[in-house]
Amino acid sequence: MKLRWGVIGAGGIADRRTIPGMMEAENAELVAVMEVEQSLADSIKEKYGAKAAYDNADDLLARDDIDAVYIASPVICHEEAAVKAAEAGKHILIEKPIALTSAKAQEIIDYCDKKGIKVGAGFMMRFAAYHQLLKGEIKKLGQLTNAAGQFTCWYPDIEGAWRQIKSQGGGGALMDMGVHLIDLIQYITGEKIVSVAALNDTMTFGYEVEDASAILGKLESGAYVNINSNFNIPDEAAKWRMEFYGTGGRIICDETIGQVEGGTVEALFTGEAKDYDAQQDKKSAGKTVYDVEFGNMYTKEIESFSDSVLNDKPLESPASEAIYVQKVIEAAYKSSEEKTFVDVI
Ligand SMILES: NC(=O)c1ccc[n+]([C@@H]2O[C@H](COP(=O)([O-])OP(=O)(O)OC[C@H]3O[C@@H](n4cnc5c(N)ncnc54)[C@H](O)[C@@H]3O)[C@@H](O)[C@H]2O)c1
Repeated sequence: MKLRWGVIGAGGIADRRTIPGMMEAENAELVAVMEVEQSLADSIKEKYGAKAAYDNADDLLARDDIDAVYIASPVICHEEAAVKAAEAGKHILIEKPIALTSAKAQEIIDYCDKKGIKVGAGFMMRFAAYHQLLKGEIKKLGQLTNAAGQFTCWYPDIEGAWRQIKSQGGGGALMDMGVHLIDLIQYITGEKIVSVAALNDTMTFGYEVEDASAILGKLESGAYVNINSNFNIPDEAAKWRMEFYGTGGRIICDETIGQVEGGTVEALFTGEAKDYDAQQDKKSAGKTVYDVEFGNMYTKEIESFSDSVLNDKPLESPASEAIYVQKVIEAAYKSSEEKTFVDVI
């Protein structure tokens, strides 16, 4: 059995990654697409062999042969589309961040809960094979002491770009890229970030949202977190790293984050606590280099969501968890503005 999908805002990441991933999903079928310009909607319909193309969400949502929608419009448009989809009884996979604020996102979810609608968040990086593996391997680190992540791109001034306007995107590098790091660190460690101190600046470009963000935070267990998100580092220079350290070793992920599965993960586990070694000798240590089978994380995301709806299973990436990520971001903005440590509530 296949879940029948409609796509709202089909011309951006939907066309670049998610619809191609959906086409490979075993339990999903693309039925209709919507874009603001009918000509663009038509060309996407033709490209993927969908049944219909619309220039408005209402007509797409009126179809009886659509079970779920993927909302991939600019952040400012998410709320209206999600509420309409819930009214029409469609399950929803919504791109990150869910809404302009965590309060708005909570309203969407409360409304969907009342209607019995499942709402998933577009954290496709959760589905990368390395990240699935790390959820188990992280336990070998003993007491987790540090988790760090860095995600960057080059995003210069572009006239009218919604991501560069706070009222349309909700924020800059932290809201757009850091959102994935916060989610992945919480997902892999199984812990929430409970307090943060942050710096958010527009240090390179002319737009109003931050092009650089640094968060120092604490996880529930007390472990430290360090998250760097940048719009002002050239793509060629990007490393897209995550690092986890504990009393029993380290795990280093190089370029496992991003839109295409890849990169490397190397770990070193020291086992039981040892006596103090004045030599501080690290040469004899044995490394583990993992080998996984890469796939398409968008296909896995769509298959997982479809399976949850078709078989009434819990979502692997529920929107409720994305709301907490957004609360961490809001605490980071507050910290930066007030120059103080802020608890995430
Ligand atoms: N998970 C990922 O890999 C990933 C990557 C990039 C972006 N995103 C998220 O996806 C969303 C869209 O980002 P993007 O990069 O595709 O942006 P984009 O601007 O490239 O594309 C958005 C599309 O939505 C259309 N649109 C505009 N207003 C609309 C409306 N009212 N209703 C429906 N469609 C409308 C636009 O015409 C455009 O084609 C954002 O939430 C963003 O954070 C996710």
